[in-house]
Amino acid sequence: MTIWSRLQDHRKSQGALRIEALFDADPTRAATFSTQAEGLVLDWSKTSIDAGARELLLELAAPVPERREAMFAGQRINETEDRAVLHTALRNLEGSVAVDGRDVMPELRRTHRRMCDFARAIRDGSFAGQGGRITDVINIGIGGSDLGPAMATRALAPWHDGPRVHFVSNVDGADIADTLKGLDPATTLVIVASKTFTTIETMTNARTALDWMAKAVAQPAAQFAALSSATDRTAEWGIEPSRVFGFEDWVGGRYSMWGPIGLSLMIAIGPENFDRFLAGGAAMDRHFREAPLAQNLPVILALVGIWHHQVCGYGTRAVLPYDNRLARLPAYLQQLEMESNGKRVAMDGSDLVLPSGPVVWGEPGTNGQHAFYQLIHQGTAVVPCEFILAARGHEPELAHHHLLLIANCLAQSEALMRGRSLDEARALMQAKGLTGAELERQARHRVFPGNRPSTTLLIPELDPYTLGQIVALYEHRVFAEGVILGINSFDQWGVELGKELALKLAPLLQGKPAPGHDPSTEHLAALIRDARS
Ligand code: F6P
Repeated sequence: MTIWSRLQDHRKSQGALRIEALFDADPTRAATFSTQAEGLVLDWSKTSIDAGARELLLELAAPVPERREAMFAGQRINETEDRAVLHTALRNLEGSVAVDGRDVMPELRRTHRRMCDFARAIRDGSFAGQGGRITDVINIGIGGSDLGPAMATRALAPWHDGPRVHFVSNVDGADIADTLKGLDPATTLVIVASKTFTTIETMTNARTALDWMAKAVAQPAAQFAALSSATDRTAEWGIEPSRVFGFEDWVGGRYSMWGPIGLSLMIAIGPENFDRFLAGGAAMDRHFREAPLAQNLPVILALVGIWHHQVCGYGTRAVLPYDNRLARLPAYLQQLEMESNGKRVAMDGSDLVLPSGPVVWGEPGTNGQHAFYQLIHQGTAVVPCEFILAARGHEPELAHHHLLLIANCLAQSEALMRGRSLDEARALMQAKGLTGAELERQARHRVFPGNRPSTTLLIPELDPYTLGQIVALYEHRVFAEGVILGINSFDQWGVELGKELALKLAPLLQGKPAPGHDPSTEHLAALIRDARS
């Protein structure tokens, strides 16, 4: 019998078990089903994982250490692209790591130093635009070349003391038009962030930015920098090599914010704070490598995810940061988790027998409470919730806000677990003076089934270091889930087909002959042509 079927049997044997009953049976549960490490606390006690499930889940994690060490050692674990996976080296700049017998660390250190020098020069004005000191920086990139630095720049707003930083990603002209409005091209630096330097959205936006700049300054490319491995293409754009920061193919797009793709963040918060962000990531790497599986934060988070999705069959997972500055974290995690583990075949090409990764979504609390929490509490689908909460806010003078924020977060996880019974709802209606059939009808609408699982990640305070810890925690969680499911978390072939078809569709929209499209697409294209003519 496989561990998976034992897990399924175990789940069935739980029957109508209520999470609350687990606390009644084990007074130490709140502590023993919490993992504390590196100043973080992951409370997973409000889930239906009991001691038996925990044991089986830990058995599932057995292959993680070997694969993990292969990753850190620079082996080509991204087998479908025949690449090593070494984004961890970007935040552990000491020591040496060999890829194909070559130590890659000296080059990483050199690039990091160049990034720091460039960021400092922009921040202190020694690198200026053609109209004076740089006031604004625009990062043009998409996916992994946008979401990481955009999320982190917002998260670390209190440390943002450099020029204003803007992010343009969408090929929709509205994105760049709205961003350029009000900016002075003569004091703006444009960073084109694209590993391949071919991504159509990024190249289209970069061209528009170059044209915009060319109208105002004599040497537009002199105010461009590039974050890319494709130095031949950056040279075609006229971007001087001193402003090109490259990285190798073993840094995947969605794992790249620790290196050159993080330049906009480094300019915003300064190299010292950026290094604290790296240090937080490096601390999580050490923890992931050294902590036993049963006390290992990324492993436990992965196992909780697997319990909910692959064992209990819950289709989605909500990430709910009770921290407004983490507003973009759910979007960042959508790419990290869904591009990594949204696969249908196993590493060996066989069909995946288990469901792959879940749909990940979310919004910051408390705003979500006034939007979609209704479904989470009373809808028919069970949505495991992952709350993220800082014990301290950044504004001591607004401590009362933070207390309310914390109270809301804890209240939600408690309400999700406990719910409200029919009897309690009846008592409420009685107190309002209702009787008979109307009391029954109204009471039923006020029942909360409860027994809805959640985890809470408690951090001391959101700062560069803890943000680094959080991001690396989720990266390793995705990795561990991928290993357990037997999939390659580091390729993304699923985004290719749409890209190819988009290129082929342009002629159809222009009314040129473009055979081979389906009738619905042709019909829509014809309607759009009419509407645009
Ligand atoms: O969406 C696919 C993808 O390849 C992502 O993985 C990547 O982050 C993004 O496109 C951007 O790619 P590039 O940095 O090459 O422009």
